[in-house]
Amino acid sequence: MLWLKYYFQKPEKGFDPVPKAFAEKYAANECQKLNNEVIEAIKERVPDFKNKTILDLGAGPGQYSIAFAKKGAKVTWHDISRNYLDIAKTKAANESLALNFSLGYLEEAHGKFDIIFNRICWYYCINDIRFAKCIYNLVKENGYGFIIVNNEKYLKEELEKESGLKKMAMKMSYWLNENFNIKFTHVHPSHKKLAKIFARLNFKHLQLEQRGHNTLITFNK
Ligand SMILES: C[S@@+](CC[C@H](N)C(=O)[O-])C[C@H]1O[C@@H](n2cnc3c(N)ncnc32)[C@H](O)[C@@H]1O
Repeated sequence: MLWLKYYFQKPEKGFDPVPKAFAEKYAANECQKLNNEVIEAIKERVPDFKNKTILDLGAGPGQYSIAFAKKGAKVTWHDISRNYLDIAKTKAANESLALNFSLGYLEEAHGKFDIIFNRICWYYCINDIRFAKCIYNLVKENGYGFIIVNNEKYLKEELEKESGLKKMAMKMSYWLNENFNIKFTHVHPSHKKLAKIFARLNFKHLQLEQRGHNTLITFNK
């Protein structure tokens, strides 16, 4: 079960799921193609980032953390990977930006923020329903959430590359998560499941938009 990782694989004891070479390659690629559309979409709802507290949850190399900080936000970078932490710290120092850094599992982030940003790492959470609540609790009253999740269309693309037992196991894992909310692997939730989970939480405004293999969730608490 995924929660066992919390006990046996601790980042403070040297556990890092992301090898250094992979982290460096991902960082180089993602920093170069940073999606300004995402930032513009957030700015439509929060026009001024100045002094807004933002949690970049599962921040990886910190390309978005840095973009928010450049616009005046007080950013907290949170991720499990020390290799990404080193990359993000170096990038922030090179730009003379002061960010808060917090190393840990997604569910271990704490505090209350004006804005929570979570991009393409939802599937690493332990439980979809509990993670949505965890995100909800990290946002201040009147605060905003911007979440980008790889949905079942992404999983379908992944399945097309697989065959045999592995493909069957992935399908089974998806089925269990969709129908019983049980996760054995880092499986992608469907757009429909996300819509159901978020509809149960109390928002002033909630929007879920399916854009190809991503679901964009925007909310105002
Ligand atoms: C695909 S990357 C996305 C990074 C960044 N949000 C972006 O938009 O480029 C997934 C990130 O999730 C992090 N991650 C994976 N499992 C995690 C966990 N259980 N808790 C916290 N972060 C995790 C990885 O270290 C990595 O930074």
